[in-house]
Amino acid sequence: MHPDVQKIMLSEEEIKDRVQGLGKQISEEYQGEEILVIGILKGAMIFLADLVRNISIPTYFDFMAVSSYGAGTESSGAVRILKDLDKSIEGRHVIIVEDIVDTGLTLKYLTENLQARNPASLKICTLLDKPERRTVNVNVNYVGFSVPNEFVVGFGLDFNERYRNLPYIAVLKPEIYE
Ligand code: IMP
Repeated sequence: MHPDVQKIMLSEEEIKDRVQGLGKQISEEYQGEEILVIGILKGAMIFLADLVRNISIPTYFDFMAVSSYGAGTESSGAVRILKDLDKSIEGRHVIIVEDIVDTGLTLKYLTENLQARNPASLKICTLLDKPERRTVNVNVNYVGFSVPNEFVVGFGLDFNERYRNLPYIAVLKPEIYE
């Protein structure tokens, strides 16, 4: 275990099993279609890489980067597009892939923004959901795990850009957050 980690919330094995399940579910629900997965950088990249390898229908990727917490653990509420999609999504079956839904502000902004581009359908898939923290209503279609209200890192999620490469989801020792 990494020396800064206080406890592991979700092990590599638990995540692997759940991501397999999500991939299978998506493959079944979109049978006969092609999907476009939109990864939200940078947090969703590890989850997306594992998820798409468990999807058996034709799958295309694109990426967006939006501003999020910056250098702390609290959302500023402001969402800004840092990198937009490469191509039009008009008429495509789109799935937004996120690392975590916290207040919901990022996804509320993203779904409104992407819906306006006329996709054939638009769904949301997140590895983690922190329902206790929600301040705006967003309809999340696929959830890996519901987690308690604790700041977590690993499997793509960061604290000040660190710990994204941990292969599990963990809570850091309190002194690290100070
Ligand atoms: P929201 O807009 O408040 O839903 O926040 C979404 C973004 O906040 C996520 O994509 C993460 O980048 C970040 N975030 C929220 N909670 C955590 C956490 O526990 N650990 C790391 N990042 C988090």
